[in-house]
Amino acid sequence: YRIAIFASGEGSNFQTLVDASQEGLLGGAKVELLVCDKPEAPVVKRARDAGVPVHLFTPKSYSSREAYELEIVEQLDALNIELVVLAGYMRLLTSVMVDKYTGRLINIHPSLLPSFPGTNAIPQALNYGVKLTGATVHFVDGGMDTGAIIAQQSIEIESNATVESLANDIHAIEQELYPRVVSWFAQGCVVLNDRQVTILPYK
Ligand code: GRF
Repeated sequence: YRIAIFASGEGSNFQTLVDASQEGLLGGAKVELLVCDKPEAPVVKRARDAGVPVHLFTPKSYSSREAYELEIVEQLDALNIELVVLAGYMRLLTSVMVDKYTGRLINIHPSLLPSFPGTNAIPQALNYGVKLTGATVHFVDGGMDTGAIIAQQSIEIESNATVESLANDIHAIEQELYPRVVSWFAQGCVVLNDRQVTILPYK
């Protein structure tokens, strides 16, 4: 089962998925490509070290978002990618990607959606004073963090939490949640019906 990961930054989720795949913990899924819009991002080095091919691009050298996405789609087609996994990819996708990969395009977000969509979800949850937050894996549609929810995991916010401590705690649950969800896809367990997502028993 062939997956591509899109990432712009640190790449801790990228690393976790690559490691899980190598350890046989991803339901047979393999990371075939990293797509990255930031040549200097740490995730690029992680991919090179792991031997994962990288499609790097610089958005400002294209006339439109559609133009660079068409190139990305060509790469995904050439590699027969079955699932596109966004992991800290800091760009909104156009219909070029979203329409072509409906039901095969997922993202992880560091809050319990629909609370705190967009960037800065972690400080927003802390400042709001919610007692529970967490991570959400969802399908990507044309909106900002609005697609159908596949899985969520919650954690309590301790009274002495800081943005750093909460970010660490959320990263830790993301690194359990994302490999689990990707392995569901690899096993064909995820069924999308309108906004309702059902997880079939693991084969
Ligand atoms: C994660 O917190 C994810 O939820 C958000 O971006 C962050 C990426 O972190 N979408 P990393 O690059 O995987 O370390």
